[in-house]
Amino acid sequence: MDLAINGRTALVTGGSKGLGFASAEALSCEGAKVAIAARTVETLKKAAQTIDAVPVMADLSNNAGVLSCIEKTREAIGNPDILVINTGGPAPATFADTTPDGWRTATDQLFHFTIEMLTAFLEPMKEKGWGRIVVITSFAAEEPVANLLYSNALRAGIHGLINSIAKEVAGHGVTINGVMPGFIMTDRMAGLGIDLDKAAQSIPAKRLGEPSELGDLVAFLCSERATYINGQAIACDGGLLQGI
Ligand SMILES: NC(=O)c1ccc[n+]([C@@H]2O[C@H](COP(=O)([O-])OP(=O)(O)OC[C@H]3O[C@@H](n4cnc5c(N)ncnc54)[C@H](OP(=O)(O)O)[C@@H]3O)[C@@H](O)[C@H]2O)c1
Repeated sequence: MDLAINGRTALVTGGSKGLGFASAEALSCEGAKVAIAARTVETLKKAAQTIDAVPVMADLSNNAGVLSCIEKTREAIGNPDILVINTGGPAPATFADTTPDGWRTATDQLFHFTIEMLTAFLEPMKEKGWGRIVVITSFAAEEPVANLLYSNALRAGIHGLINSIAKEVAGHGVTINGVMPGFIMTDRMAGLGIDLDKAAQSIPAKRLGEPSELGDLVAFLCSERATYINGQAIACDGGLLQGI
């Protein structure tokens, strides 16, 4: 199947490793001109070289960093046709561990960051009459995970945002969808202190996912082929979430 995004421009934030990198790689393989944003310069440059992408160094956890990312992206590729919103996950916590500062940090990192990216790039997509947005969230949005309280609470809100925006942009050739990873083997997953063998046994597929399995889904949703898929929360989880 030709995804028909050859020559489209794309920004993938949190794109130097893990799920962001896999998404950027899949888009680049389809001929998109991709920019990837992250903080660590060595990893970022190496990742960009590997997939022939433009590196955009930025810390997306604060307003100045997000504005710098937006400016550098526009200089490098213009306003992107495709936007994949992704970043590092919030700190683990039970409700008893949460603090007002912790809530502010996690909200800036996940929610405000998402809003700022959308504020910058959604309008140009509407004006152009074509755009694809995918937000990488978590299966925690549907099924709260023990000790990931910030993620459980904030991801669900992001899906509310996605659903609302989808209705506003549907008539402008723009789609926005959320992708919910389950347990996919990345550096973050390895560092969460989860018993991964036990996690694998809880998944109907009996294994963790590969980043490329999520990257391929993201590329499809960002393609010409996915014109009629909008406002959805799509899990990539080996059958973990039951849903309907
Ligand atoms: N892996 C899973 O199975 C899974 C499951 C559920 C949800 N998720 C969520 O999916 C997202 C991606 O997870 P992942 O497993 O791919 O993580 P990862 O392997 O740790 O990769 C995170 C990427 O984001 C970048 N990043 C982190 N903080 C950043 C910041 N403040 N500013 C700019 N870039 C930043 C990292 O580069 P630098 O560190 O160099 O900046 C890296 O490129 C996270 O929000 C995670 O919670 C993942």
